[in-house]
Amino acid sequence: MDYEEISIQDAYRLQNAGGLVLVCTKAVGEAEGYDLAPVAWCCPLDYSPQSRFICVLDTSHRTFEDLRASGEFILALPSYAQKRLVEQCGSVSGRDADKYARFEIPSFRGEKVDALIPYGVAGWVECKVSGIHVEGTSGVVYGDALAAKAAKDFWEMRLHYVTEGIWFRPWGGALGVKKGLKP
Ligand SMILES: Cc1cc2nc3c(=O)[nH]c(=O)nc-3n(C[C@H](O)[C@H](O)[C@H](O)COP(=O)(O)O)c2cc1C
Repeated sequence: MDYEEISIQDAYRLQNAGGLVLVCTKAVGEAEGYDLAPVAWCCPLDYSPQSRFICVLDTSHRTFEDLRASGEFILALPSYAQKRLVEQCGSVSGRDADKYARFEIPSFRGEKVDALIPYGVAGWVECKVSGIHVEGTSGVVYGDALAAKAAKDFWEMRLHYVTEGIWFRPWGGALGVKKGLKP
C-alpha cells in the first residue's frame, strides 16, 4: 500500500473524529450576555458515574473566559442543517458581537446551566467545569455532564467536521469532502 507523507503540523487531522460541538456560555461579572462558539476538538473522557468531556479551546476565546468564570457551559450538538450557523459563529468573537443577535439565532435556556441552546440542534449536554489545564494558548476544559437530551433521529441529524472543507454526516454521507489528506 502507498502512504503519503503528512507533516507533523497536519498529523492531528488524521485523528480528528469530527464530533463538532457548539460551546454555549454566559458571561459573568462586568461582561454581559451569552455566547457560543464551534469547537471540533472535543471528546469523551469517562462515563461513570457520569459522562465527562474534554474540550480544547484557545484561551483568547470569549467562551473560554466565560466558562472559566461561570464554571459551567453547554455542549450543543449541531445538525447538518446548521452548517452555516456553525460557520457564522466561528467567524467572529463574542467579544466583538452578540452572535445570537447578529446571526438571529433563536434559542432556549438550558435546564441546569444558564446558557442558550440554538433551536434545531440534534441534542445537547449541560456541563459543569470540573477542571481546566492551560498549556500555552490551549485551554483544556474538563466538563462533567449534569443533563443531556437528544433528538430521536440524532445520528441522522448530526454534523461532523474534520478540517477546512471536510464536513460529514455520520449516517448521511459527505458534505463537501475534498480528496487527499493535505490542507
Ligand atoms: C468548524 C469549526 C471548528 C472549530 N474548532 C475549534 C476548536 O476545536 N477549538 C478552538 O479553540 N476554536 C475552534 N474554532 C474557532 C472558534 O470557534 C472561533 O475562533 C470563535 O469565533 C471563538 O468565539 P468566541 O471568542 O466568542 O469564543 C472552530 C471554528 C470552526 C468554524
